[in-house]
Amino acid sequence: MTEITTTLTRTPAARPADAALSFGKVLTDHMFMMNYTAGKGWHDPRVVPYAPLSLDPATQVLHYGQAIFDGLKAFRGPDGQIRLFRAQRHAERLNKSARALCIPELDADLVRRSFEAIVAVDNEWVPHAMGTSLYIRPTVIATDVMLGVHPSATYTYFVICSPVGAYYKEGVKPVRILVSDNHVRAVQGGLGEAKTAANYAASLSAQLEAEEAGYTQVLWLDGVERKYIDEVGTMNIMMQIGDEVITPPLAGTILDGVTRNSCLQLMRDWGLKVSERKISIDEVMAAGRDGSLREMWGTGTAAVVSPVGELGYKGEKVSIGNGQTGLLTQKLYDSIIGIQYGTAPDAHGWTSVVKV
Ligand code: COI
Repeated sequence: MTEITTTLTRTPAARPADAALSFGKVLTDHMFMMNYTAGKGWHDPRVVPYAPLSLDPATQVLHYGQAIFDGLKAFRGPDGQIRLFRAQRHAERLNKSARALCIPELDADLVRRSFEAIVAVDNEWVPHAMGTSLYIRPTVIATDVMLGVHPSATYTYFVICSPVGAYYKEGVKPVRILVSDNHVRAVQGGLGEAKTAANYAASLSAQLEAEEAGYTQVLWLDGVERKYIDEVGTMNIMMQIGDEVITPPLAGTILDGVTRNSCLQLMRDWGLKVSERKISIDEVMAAGRDGSLREMWGTGTAAVVSPVGELGYKGEKVSIGNGQTGLLTQKLYDSIIGIQYGTAPDAHGWTSVVKV
């Protein structure tokens, strides 16, 4: 088994109080690093003190965006144990993104061990309060120094961690979402299902427009017909119309969300009618008008399960569930966090305890 070396910081930083945590503003004392060199493969896995990276201005990632990342969380349960949620699936998804960006795949077991190693070293940074967690951000960047456009021959993998609270300022209260009708995020055959910097850069102008109009996030329509719903900027989207739970299918343009997959599994366990199918924005708005759109929510590692209380599209607004969190949304949220914090049975073996 590849050995991971550890060098501890001599200057630990002050940790914020749990009540002061928002999302991603504070970083922990250490980071995990590993390098790739053509001919040598991935090498030198190590935990080192958190520090800035020094990059030549001609480094490939800065120009052509050959970069991937993922995001998962570690939770401190009331029993004092720290658990990772679906670490192996996140490691495998990182490799899926790597394939899309011509980045050499990593050993998924070593990636999972990198999560465990950094959390073990920075275990005191895992916050205690319910609703808080340690967000883990594995990233790969292309590091060749060159201005020609082709896949890099060298890469750096790093994992940084941030103690976090709720992603949205609304906390777990319903958010308002604007359907984007003049921007697109992804098309089939593109990078939509990869977790890559470009997708988030492409979302910024629409996100700004939504915020200026008083919304929290953007709901993307498909990039060709601008008819079918795809996903929200930072989460997958689901809804209940009548007795059918609907979410867009994994058809190459949306992220294969780990929380999405977990919620679908739970709802199937509960015997609900769940469809992964294309759904047009016209069908959603019509259901909003006639009252059959009972609930809508987003799923994501950062967002967890976030109720959607209002949808805006082409100047029309539909209120969902009177702007209140629906029963199914609440049940999903409670079930997911119960598993994550170790207070509910983990029937699918999604969590793994970190040895500290
Ligand atoms: C996540 O949910 O892990 C994300 O990556 C969303 C966002 C913070 C970029």
